[in-house]
Amino acid sequence: MKSLDDLEVAGRTVLVRADFNVPLADGPDGPDDTKVITDDGRIRAALPTIRFLRDQGARVVLVAHLGRPKGVVSDALGLQPIADRLSELLDTDVEVAADITGPQARAMVDALEPGGVLLLENIRFDARETSKDPAERGELAAELAALADAFVSDGFGVVHREQASVTDVARLLPAAAGRLVHREATVFTGLLANPARPYVVVLGGSKVSDKLGVIGNLIGRVDRLLIGGGMAFTFLAAQGHDVGESLLEADQIDVVRGFLDQALAAGVELVLPVDVVVADAFAADARTSIVPASGIEAGWRGLDIGPQTVALFASKIADAGTVVWNGPMGVFEMVPFAAGTRGVAEAIAACGGLTVVGGGDSAAAIRLLGLDEADFGHISTGGGASLEFLEGKDLPGLTVLEEST
Ligand code: 3PG
Repeated sequence: MKSLDDLEVAGRTVLVRADFNVPLADGPDGPDDTKVITDDGRIRAALPTIRFLRDQGARVVLVAHLGRPKGVVSDALGLQPIADRLSELLDTDVEVAADITGPQARAMVDALEPGGVLLLENIRFDARETSKDPAERGELAAELAALADAFVSDGFGVVHREQASVTDVARLLPAAAGRLVHREATVFTGLLANPARPYVVVLGGSKVSDKLGVIGNLIGRVDRLLIGGGMAFTFLAAQGHDVGESLLEADQIDVVRGFLDQALAAGVELVLPVDVVVADAFAADARTSIVPASGIEAGWRGLDIGPQTVALFASKIADAGTVVWNGPMGVFEMVPFAAGTRGVAEAIAACGGLTVVGGGDSAAAIRLLGLDEADFGHISTGGGASLEFLEGKDLPGLTVLEEST
C-alpha cells in the first residue's frame, strides 16, 4: 500500500478523507448554541497527516462526514465545530466550504495558500456519497477529484465503506494512505497474521448482534475471549441464567449457545462475568447492589461487571502477549457503573504485551475516565472498521489503495 512518502505532494492540492465523526453535545446555552465536541480523539488522530502535508507546502482540502444525514442538509450535523477545533489544534484558520464541491468550494480551493487548510461541508449532505449506484458515486467522486491533484485516505473509521469520498475518488487521483490509516492497517494486519500469545480479546458493548461476525471469526484465532458489557447477558441467558431486566437479545440465544459450543470444541477459554452491578432503574441515582451473575432477580438490571469479574478478567489479561479490547464493560458514562470499564482498562494498561483498543466507545472511555493514552499500544479510531478488520473481511477503502498505482 502506498504511503504518504510515496506521493508527490509538495506544492500540490491534496484531498484528504478524514474521519471527524466525533461525539457532540449541546453548548452551554442549549440546543441552539454551538455544539461542543466531547471527545476530539479522531480530530487529533488526523493531525500528523495534515501537519506533514502543510510542512510540504501542500494545500490541504479535507473531506469528512458527521452522523448519517442521508443526503439531507441539517444544521445539527454541520462541520463548523470541527473546523473550529482544527483551527485551534493547527493554529491556523480552517474555513468550511458550505457547498461541498460547488462554486464556493472551488473558489475557496483556488484561494488556498501553500500550507492552507480547507474543510468541505459534511460530505453526507450530498446523497451521492453513500449511493448504492456506482455511477452516482462516481459523479461526486469526479467533482471531488477536480478539486485536487492527489488523494490521501486517512479516515480509518470509514475504510469499510464503499463510498464516493472513500473508494471512488481514490480511483481517479494518485492515491496513498495517510499516517493514521497506515498505522491502523499495519497494527490490524499484524493481529490477523501473527499475534503474540496468549492472544486475549475483551469484548463489551450493548449488543451481541453487532458482534456476531467478529466473535465467529475470533473463536478460531484467540486463546481467551472475555465477554462483558450488555452483550454478556445474552451469553448468561444462553447458559440458563435469569438476567432480570438486563439487556437481552432473546433472538440471539441460539447463536450464542453455538459460540459457547464452538469455543469449547476449539479449546478457547470463553470467560463470562461472575458478578454484576445491578440497579433498579437505568439511572445514575438508581438503587444498586452487587450480585452473582447467576442470580439477577426480576426488577433488577445489570449495568456493569462486578469487582470479582474485574479481578478474574485482570488475571486473564496479565500474561497476554496480545490484548484487543472493543466495547465498554458497563454504562461507564454513569459514575456508579464505571468501575468495571475502568478496572479492565487499567488491567490492559498494565499488561506488558501489545495492547490494542478498538472502537469509538472504548477509546472514548479511556479518555473520559482520565486514563493515560500512552499506556496503550494502539488506540484505534475505527468502530465498525476495526470490527470488520478483526472479522477478516476485505475493507474496500484499503483494497482500493492496494490497487492504486
Ligand atoms: C464511525 O463512526 O465508526 C465512522 O465514522 C463510520 O460511520 P458510519 O458507521 O456512519 O459509516
